Amino acid sequence: MKTVRVEASRSYDVIIENGGINSCGDYIGGVFKGKRLMVVSDDIVFPIYGERVIKSLEASGFTVESFVIPNGEGSKSLSRYESLLDSMLMFRMTRSDGLVALGGGVVGDLTGFAAATYQRGIEFFQLPTTLLAMVDSSVGGKTAVNLTHGKNQVGAFWQPSCVVCDPSALDTLPQEQLLCGCAEVIKYAVLGDVRLFCLLEDCMRDSSLSKSLEDIITTCVNIKRDIVHRDEFDRGGRMVLNLGHTIGHAVEALSGFRQLHGQAVAIGLVMISRAAMKRGLLPESDFDRILGLVKGFGLPYSTEYSKEELFLASLSDKKAAGDSITVVVPVAIGRTRLLRLPCSELIDWIEP
Ligand SMILES: NC(=O)c1ccc[n+]([C@@H]2O[C@H](COP(=O)([O-])OP(=O)(O)OC[C@H]3O[C@@H](n4cnc5c(N)ncnc54)[C@H](O)[C@@H]3O)[C@@H](O)[C@H]2O)c1
Repeated sequence: MKTVRVEASRSYDVIIENGGINSCGDYIGGVFKGKRLMVVSDDIVFPIYGERVIKSLEASGFTVESFVIPNGEGSKSLSRYESLLDSMLMFRMTRSDGLVALGGGVVGDLTGFAAATYQRGIEFFQLPTTLLAMVDSSVGGKTAVNLTHGKNQVGAFWQPSCVVCDPSALDTLPQEQLLCGCAEVIKYAVLGDVRLFCLLEDCMRDSSLSKSLEDIITTCVNIKRDIVHRDEFDRGGRMVLNLGHTIGHAVEALSGFRQLHGQAVAIGLVMISRAAMKRGLLPESDFDRILGLVKGFGLPYSTEYSKEELFLASLSDKKAAGDSITVVVPVAIGRTRLLRLPCSELIDWIEP
């Protein structure tokens, strides 16, 4: 078992433990003084893990309700958010009760936003079940739902009170989703950790990812923790987490969201790395290793969309502020630089 302490507007432990989901009642009971909890999950995750989570919470003395949403991004909506709040009210939840998010980033973001706003804020707990949610969305306190024409446009910063990552829960995750999480892990390695990058290269060579998952998740959570410490409310430094995302979001949007987020991030990471290499900012050998890792994990690294299409779609990304846009540029494996550019120059940084 590994524990990472996050010090933010609310401080909490992230526990990384195989089988940890079965002990969630102990972990939550250790930090939560309330008596009632509502488990929010989706219709794929709840049938697999719901029973053991509820059993563990009840064994720790909690009264437990559940709320199950359809799986997928469509559930990060204002209407689903409202029906969750209605259920909480029907369950007569008060400010001393809490929510438990059991699932991927969709469940975590929706549950966190409901927790942030119900009766002006109640505690919540994260039990992430995708690799992306373990290394990224469950930690750091960003919560949100989507509007019809914009992702994550309504949300709040609201930290969980405890996060329990159980790598063994990834055994049931479809391979495609696991790989999407790997794209975010590669992103972490490129932006801040050479050792992690080398570990991933080893995993790729001997197909030993599952053996190293606890180490990989812990390393990523540590990197995210450090970034959140420096910039909890996303005023600058936290932007490095967007490495590969400006072009990635464009690929996602152009594909009508058929291209999965992690796949799009992998493409975006390769493109911005190639642009950095061509401008002499990133050594060619580092670019070759980044491309090799993306390929080795079976992630896509190119797209059918033209430079112009990607440019126009990138400009609608919310990181564009007025006439300028900030791009995260890798300058070595483990190091990035933030560049503020006039929007018109972004096209020079798109290297399909
Ligand atoms: N809050 C943040 O900081 C942050 C950061 C990154 C991404 N996000 C958000 O996260 C969301 C994406 O999260 P995601 O990739 O986890 O997707 P997801 O929550 O949609 O999960 C992907 C699929 O895997 C299934 N699933 C989850 N765990 C499973 C398991 N253990 N076994 C079998 N099936 C399982 C789900 O039912 C779903 O169908 C996006 O909405 C994105 O905006 C938020």
